[in-house]
Amino acid sequence: MSLTSARRYWLTGASNGLGAALAEELLKSGAHVALSSRFQEPLEQFAQQYPGHVLVVAGDLTNSQTVREIGEHITQVWGSLDTVILNAGTCEYVDTQQFDASIIEYVVRTNLLASSYCIEAALPLLQVGRTPHLVGIASAVTYLPMSQTDPKAGLRHLFESLRVDRSSKGVDITVVIPGFVDTPPTQSSDFPMPLNWPADKAARHIFAKLQGRPLEIAFPALLLAALWPLPTLPNSPQLSIGKRMLPNPPSQKDDL
Ligand SMILES: NC(=O)c1ccc[n+]([C@@H]2O[C@H](COP(=O)([O-])OP(=O)(O)OC[C@H]3O[C@@H](n4cnc5c(N)ncnc54)[C@H](OP(=O)(O)O)[C@@H]3O)[C@@H](O)[C@H]2O)c1
Repeated sequence: MSLTSARRYWLTGASNGLGAALAEELLKSGAHVALSSRFQEPLEQFAQQYPGHVLVVAGDLTNSQTVREIGEHITQVWGSLDTVILNAGTCEYVDTQQFDASIIEYVVRTNLLASSYCIEAALPLLQVGRTPHLVGIASAVTYLPMSQTDPKAGLRHLFESLRVDRSSKGVDITVVIPGFVDTPPTQSSDFPMPLNWPADKAARHIFAKLQGRPLEIAFPALLLAALWPLPTLPNSPQLSIGKRMLPNPPSQKDDL
């Protein structure tokens, strides 16, 4: 497929986990994809595997200047974008016994500020793209507060505000709410993860659903069916469900 007919994507967090699986899915479809993450090597591997289809735009997205430069680079090479998928993110556990605000700062910077910098760089490119689409990977924490710090509820709010804002006029906006996906961070988590999906299955599902441009893509249905009504429940059942997702307590030995 030539660059003039292939859809042009910018995908963040493409070096690992769900993002790497999404990169594979997009590239298999014949799309042209600008790939971002801090580590360049996995992105170069995609470039070798799909010659002429990958634009490597590596960098730390928590640095606003770096993101501006990535936007400028995409502008010079492609001049526009058709779809932007903001997937880069992190998830950290905060122990309330030893509350450390720097962890929250790190997570907000990575999940919320970095996405905002990317939106600032992407909107002008999307506005000159074909049937533009902005996609944000949020999380089920937008339905159920868990003990992990994940300001993805803020990301969802940001995307929903953008939908009503004039700055995104003409750009379709989709929020993706994954349940649990089997990726390096979840593999090392120490709390129950019901209905965990492999990353390639999640990526195939997201890619297929994106074609219909829904406002929201939430999966797996069984987990989400249980979470959807939660915000309408009184506080105490919400709290008891959230507590079931707590990491396992440290063993007796660790306490000594
Ligand atoms: N896995 C799940 O169960 C799950 C559930 C709900 C939502 N999510 C969301 O899905 C997304 C992907 O999660 P995942 O599980 O696939 O995580 P992952 O395997 O850790 O991948 C995270 C990606 O983000 C990139 N990244 C992190 N910090 C970055 C920074 N400062 N600048 C540029 N890139 C950065 C990482 O690349 P580098 O390290 O190379 O920079 C990596 O490619 C995240 O936003 C996560 O919140 C995941």
